[in-house]
Amino acid sequence: MKIGIACDHGGFALKDFVKETLEDKGCEVVDLGTDSFASVDYPDFALKALRMLMRGECDRIILMCGTGIGMSMCANRIPGVRGSLCSDPYTAKMSRLHNDSNCLIMGGRVIGEAIAKEIVDAWLSTPFEGGRHKGRLEKIELIPSKI
Ligand code: RB5
Repeated sequence: MKIGIACDHGGFALKDFVKETLEDKGCEVVDLGTDSFASVDYPDFALKALRMLMRGECDRIILMCGTGIGMSMCANRIPGVRGSLCSDPYTAKMSRLHNDSNCLIMGGRVIGEAIAKEIVDAWLSTPFEGGRHKGRLEKIELIPSKI
């Protein structure tokens, strides 16, 4: 699986660990930055990864910022992106089973490495259940951008 990863300074500490975790599992990782603790704007880095995903240049993406909230807001603006902000492995598993998550988001200031590893493991290994959930996801895509 090819995975694009991106973060801001708040997610930077977690990014290298996530990258190693993915590589250990045999994933091809494209690291889109940021590459230091210097302050940056998370939408700039979200956009790099979101473009990659929507252009079909990777299978899934992982975004990290301080809380995960800003990255989550960016991800779920884009039709076709199913971003799941996860702080525990159960939510990560359900985000695949029921929501077919193609974008995992984590807060680098919220979770530690051990939980992040369990989240990534669950998110990578759990398939989409389909069935009744497929129609619900199709309905998300029908929500107009202005209501
Ligand atoms: C950066 O300080 C912080 O606001 C950002 O990483 C993120 O948590 C935003 O949602």
